[in-house]
Amino acid sequence: MAEKKKSSYISGKESRKITKFNRKVTRKLEKERADANKDPALYTTQMKNPGNVVEFDNVCTYFFSDVGVVKAVDGVNFDIPRHSTVGVVGESGCGKSVTSLSLMQLLQRPSGQTVGGEIRFNRGDGSAYNIVNTPNSIMEKLRGNEISMIFQEPMTALNPVFRIGQQINEVIELHNPNMSEPEVKARTLEMLEMVGIANKEGVYEMFPHELSGGMRQRICIAIALACSPKLIIADEPTTALDVTIQAQILDLLQNLKDRLSSSIMLITHDLGVVAGMADYVVVMYAGRVVEKGTAEEIFHHPAHPYTIGLMKSKPVVGQKVEELYNIPGSVPNPVAMPDYCYFRDRCDRVCTRCQGEYPPEIRISDTHVVSCYRYYDQGTPLGYPKSVNVEELL
Ligand SMILES: Nc1ncnc2c1ncn2[C@@H]1O[C@H](COP(=O)(O)OP(=O)(O)OP(=O)(O)O)[C@@H](O)[C@H]1O
Ligand SMILES: [Mg+2]
Repeated sequence: MAEKKKSSYISGKESRKITKFNRKVTRKLEKERADANKDPALYTTQMKNPGNVVEFDNVCTYFFSDVGVVKAVDGVNFDIPRHSTVGVVGESGCGKSVTSLSLMQLLQRPSGQTVGGEIRFNRGDGSAYNIVNTPNSIMEKLRGNEISMIFQEPMTALNPVFRIGQQINEVIELHNPNMSEPEVKARTLEMLEMVGIANKEGVYEMFPHELSGGMRQRICIAIALACSPKLIIADEPTTALDVTIQAQILDLLQNLKDRLSSSIMLITHDLGVVAGMADYVVVMYAGRVVEKGTAEEIFHHPAHPYTIGLMKSKPVVGQKVEELYNIPGSVPNPVAMPDYCYFRDRCDRVCTRCQGEYPPEIRISDTHVVSCYRYYDQGTPLGYPKSVNVEELL
């Protein structure tokens, strides 16, 4: 019986209570969303800085799961400036994909909900959509046309029973209903050429299984870029590929980004990938941004103990070490996060202030912001990440 007292144990009564609560909250949130969708004033807003494509402003995305509320993304703040590549890094489960899915409104609803904050997407004239409340009819136009996504595993992203040509044609037709059939095919061939496929006519007729992993990822990039989106979200685009192909794909992405004047949100846990490509880096830990800044700042002057730990745990070319550093301990339980700094129990630089509440964001240079009390007296505190009290949602 003593076993049952463990914090992870949920009794039948508690489980029923959680299910009832989840049903009530998600129903209410879905209803509120449907109401907000009807009124353009509730989903149109202004960009704080018109030079940004996207602004994440205290975004909270929670999953109302059977074991409790998982605060997957909790008070995330960062911007994606125009024509730039923003790398989002952090260990598995820290909320990178959920942040991007919130931006695409592709969360697994009704259990996954963005319950707080704003995601502003620039419409080009300084006005913006608040993606959190934007109706599906508008999202359908944004996805593919303005924001598109490249996934980790190209084989599962492509449909195995359709030819490559058909799959790219379909995207172009959907977003350009006035194009004639030959025009669509010409555009598809142009896209295949753009992503570096040599035998474009041949590949047009092939099925995904006939291509190598690198070629499949090129096809996925062609599909994602078919409508020249303003923002490309690349969620671990090279994890399934070997290092040489990885470098080619990253080069290709970077070139196409410049050619189309797009921005890239590059999600990865590989610091090497970010170092070579990103202009800005956002470091996430347990659903929160712990540090953000230019790539130069993050790689050469990391400030947060977690970022410093990540850097130390990365092998350096030409340097032989007996054993790579690993950050001790593990991420706190996502359904019961502490109210102090989430990294405190793993941190080797704890100070007296760390005994208090979660640290605020502290600006230590124009572009460099860190969420750690060690910089409290050296920088400008900007404010605490805003979490949502789920009980108040009812
Ligand atoms: N549908 C879901 N239901 C419940 N919890 C979820 C769901 N999807 C994601 N989560 C939780 O949200 C958290 C963040 O997940 P996310 O997929 O964003 O991680 P990630 O940073 O992308 O990790 P990885 O590097 O492994 O892709 C995790 O704790 C995960 O368990
Ligand atoms: Mg992910």
